[in-house]
Amino acid sequence: MTTNTAQINKQKPINIRALAAKCCYSVIDKGRSLNDELPKQQSKADVKDKGLLQEVCYGVLRYLPELEHDVRALMQKPLTGKQRVFHFLLLVGVYQIKYMRIPDHAAVSETVAATGALKNRQMKALINGVLRNFVRISENNTLKKQETLPASIEYNHPSWFIKKIQHAYPTKWQQILAANQQKPPMWLRVNQQHHSSTEYQNLLTTAEIDVNTIEPFSHAIELTRPTDVTKLPGFDQGWVSVQDAAAQQAARLLDCQGGDVVLDCCAAPGGKTCHILEKNPDIASMTAIDVEESRLVRVEENLARLGLKAKVIAADATNSKTWWDGQQFDRILLDAPCSGTGVIRRHPDIKWLRKASDIDALVTLQQQILKETWSLLKPGGTLLYATCSVLPQENSEQIKQFIKNNTNAQLLTIDCKEKPEKEFIGWQILPGEKTPGEKNMDGFYYAKLLKTK
Ligand SMILES: C[S@@+](CC[C@H](N)C(=O)[O-])C[C@H]1O[C@@H](n2cnc3c(N)ncnc32)[C@H](O)[C@@H]1O
Repeated sequence: MTTNTAQINKQKPINIRALAAKCCYSVIDKGRSLNDELPKQQSKADVKDKGLLQEVCYGVLRYLPELEHDVRALMQKPLTGKQRVFHFLLLVGVYQIKYMRIPDHAAVSETVAATGALKNRQMKALINGVLRNFVRISENNTLKKQETLPASIEYNHPSWFIKKIQHAYPTKWQQILAANQQKPPMWLRVNQQHHSSTEYQNLLTTAEIDVNTIEPFSHAIELTRPTDVTKLPGFDQGWVSVQDAAAQQAARLLDCQGGDVVLDCCAAPGGKTCHILEKNPDIASMTAIDVEESRLVRVEENLARLGLKAKVIAADATNSKTWWDGQQFDRILLDAPCSGTGVIRRHPDIKWLRKASDIDALVTLQQQILKETWSLLKPGGTLLYATCSVLPQENSEQIKQFIKNNTNAQLLTIDCKEKPEKEFIGWQILPGEKTPGEKNMDGFYYAKLLKTK
């Protein structure tokens, strides 16, 4: 045996359950975003295990209250302080046993082995005992059946959010909460400068990638199964991008005309900026601003991959004095910073990182950006307000208030097939809803405003 082989053989495989426990601990106890933490942990895993790691982390965050309830029932006292990562390791174990097709004995032994990877063998007996107990109880179906579980456990959402959704959607709240628990579909945006959606569908068929549907308004393509982007025909050449069908409505609704001067004022990572440019190669200019300079790197990368051009500026949209050259815009897209409550199925950490107290502050920020950008719009121009939220405070109520305060703001009708409900302002898309006009999209909101003078 050569030294190299000996060294390789000595290397222990990375324990995926340990990485998953660390990731969930960072998100829940340290308040870090899953988007940041998961790639960090994935970088330590073998390529073949990255998907498993993702599935476990997403699963634990989707079912957090329920899993914690299961574990609580089997422990005399909760794990605290330095032992918290083992609390998450227990959740990782229970999630696999309840929701994954991993044999129970393998789920238990791999999770117990993670105590070695987490350098605390004293925890081995406890993790082993709790998980074996859980398997035994669930096999005998003797888990204590409570009469009524608190709503937060039954629906796996925070109580404040459940209350807000019940209030806003008295007949649909359960449907919304259930949709948030689903795995999201993968939608593609076809760059119409290269192919029509039907042509691209044929390319997908040749590549043996199955298409579920083509959305009739934006011509977005929904795949039957999520697929690695490197397998998508022409991804590197900019033929296609990954973007939910709800987000793809923005470019259509903004309805730019040749020669328009356009502003995308909360642009990063640039999905909608690029879509507008793909769809309207004849506009005079596109200015894309965002307050987070680091996020603008993604805008530049997306523009480069798609061969598009925009003026990209790091700036605060509440204060145009710092960046605006004085030329008014014909079209403005305001894809406002928001609670993200429409995209929980893609980002389950939102349920735990977003607090009830954040909403008022977000509504105030949205108001400030609306007020400032309105002053940059030409009379006769249109502003499209968008959020990926399902909370009326950030959406219809925000716009209702804006129209009340601005006599030169007129609400335009949005072509969205669904008949707007009485007194409904704008288009509220609900997550996962399947109707003739909505086909399993993310939760999103659009309102289109004309500046009359
Ligand atoms: C919903 S995201 C935009 C997504 C983007 N439109 C797209 O389609 O890829 C909201 C963006 O608003 C930015 N933002 C937050 N506050 C801002 C401010 N005061 N001025 C400009 N941008 C801001 C955030 O950095 C974030 O990138």
